[in-house]
Amino acid sequence: MNNFTKKVLITGGAGFIGSHLVRRFLNNYPDYLIVNLDKLTYAGNLSNLTDVENLPNYVFEKVDIVDAEAVKVVFKKHQITDVIHLAAESHVDRSIEGPMDFVMTNVVGTVNLLQAAKDNWGKEENHVFHHVSTDEVYGSLGDEGLFTEETSYDPRSPYSASKASSDHFVMAFYHTYGLPIKMSNCSNNYGSHHFPEKLIPLMIDNIRNSKPLPVYGKGDNIRDWLWVEDHASAIDRIFHLGRVGESYNVGGLNEWTNIELVLFLCKMLDRKLDREEGESERLITYVVDRAGHDKRYAIDASKLEQELGWTPSITFEVGLEKTVDWYLNNSEWVNRITSGDYKEYYQKMYSNRKV
Ligand code: NAD
Ligand code: TYD
Repeated sequence: MNNFTKKVLITGGAGFIGSHLVRRFLNNYPDYLIVNLDKLTYAGNLSNLTDVENLPNYVFEKVDIVDAEAVKVVFKKHQITDVIHLAAESHVDRSIEGPMDFVMTNVVGTVNLLQAAKDNWGKEENHVFHHVSTDEVYGSLGDEGLFTEETSYDPRSPYSASKASSDHFVMAFYHTYGLPIKMSNCSNNYGSHHFPEKLIPLMIDNIRNSKPLPVYGKGDNIRDWLWVEDHASAIDRIFHLGRVGESYNVGGLNEWTNIELVLFLCKMLDRKLDREEGESERLITYVVDRAGHDKRYAIDASKLEQELGWTPSITFEVGLEKTVDWYLNNSEWVNRITSGDYKEYYQKMYSNRKV
C-alpha cells in the first residue's frame, strides 16, 4: 500500500456521479489507491462498479459519514492523503418530504470529513479536500443571466440549503484552519447509472414501460444539462490543477425547458422502440408543481475553461442518445435498483401529485 503516490478517499462512490469518478480515477491513476466510502443508501449501488472492483488499487468501505468515529478509522487505516467528497442526499423532492436526512448527511457528514482531514493532515501541504457541490446553492435565475462563482448564495430548497451549508463549512475550514480545499459547483448531470427518480432516467424508464410522464407545473422550468463523464473530467482537472481555496462552476451552456426535453426523449424513444410517431408523447401528464420550484439554472463555466482549459466533450444530443441506449440495454439494472421500497415510494409521490 505504501507504494501508492496518493491515497484518495472518494465518498459517495457507489452513487451516480461518484461511480463515474471512481472508474475514471482507477483507470487513469493506477498509482493512486482509491478508497470508495459509501453508506449504500437507496441511491448507492456497488453493481455500478463491477467492471473495476477487482482492480488492485480499489478498496470499498461501507461507512456512514454521519458516524465521525467510523470516518476517523478509515482515515487512519488507509492513511488518506486526499478527499473528493460526493456523498450526499441528492434528491430535491425527498428533501421537501423530509429535510433532516439532508442536514445529517450533507451538513454533519461533511463537517465530520473536514474534521478528520484537518486532524490527520495538520499544517502539511500537498493534500486536497475537493468538495463536490451544486449550482442549486445560487438559487433561481430569471430569464436572463448565468450563475458565476461571485453569485451570492440563495438556496431555496432543503436540499440546496443543506449543500450551501456544507459549502460554507468547507470554506470556513480553509479560512480558519488553512485546510487545502477546492470546490466545484456543477449544473444538472445526466448519463448512465442515474437513479430513476431524477427527470431524465425517470422519463426514459416510464416511456419504455408506457407509464405516465409526470411533468411538474407547466414544464417551463429550465435546467442546464451536463454529461456525467464531463463532470468527472472537470473534477479530475480541478482536483489536480485548480487553485486551493477556490471554487469553480461546471456546466455545459445547455439550457432546456423540461417539456422540450421530455418531448425530445419521446421522439427519440418512438424511433428506437419502433413506435408510431407521437405515441410516447401521449403519456405526458401535467402534475402538481414542486413546492418552491426553482425556475431556471444556468452556469457560466468560463473560469474553469480559461484557467484550466476544460470544456465539455460531447453535445447533449449525442450524450442523450448514449444515455437512452444504456437504459434500454440495462433494464435489469433499473429493475434491480428499484426493487426495494422504491416502487411503493414512487407510486405514493405520483398519486399525491396527480391533478
Ligand atoms: P446520488 O444520490 O446518486 O449518490 C449519492 C451517494 O452517496 C450514494 O452512493 C449514497 O449511498 C451515498 N451516501 C448518501 N448518504 C451517505 C452517508 N450518510 N454516508 C456515506 N454515503 C452516503 O448522488 P449524485 O447525483 O451522484 O451526486 C453526487 C454529488 O454531486 C452530491 O454531493 C450532489 O450534491 C452533487 N451534485 C449532483 C448533481 C446531479 O445532477 N446529480 C449536480 C451537481 C452536484
Ligand atoms: P430533477 O431531476 O429532480 O433535478 P433538480 O430538481 O435537482 O434540478 O428535476 C429536474 C427538473 O425536472 C426540475 O425542474 C423538476 C422537473 N421534474 C419533473 O417535471 N418531473 C419529474 O418527475 C421530476 C423527477 C422532475
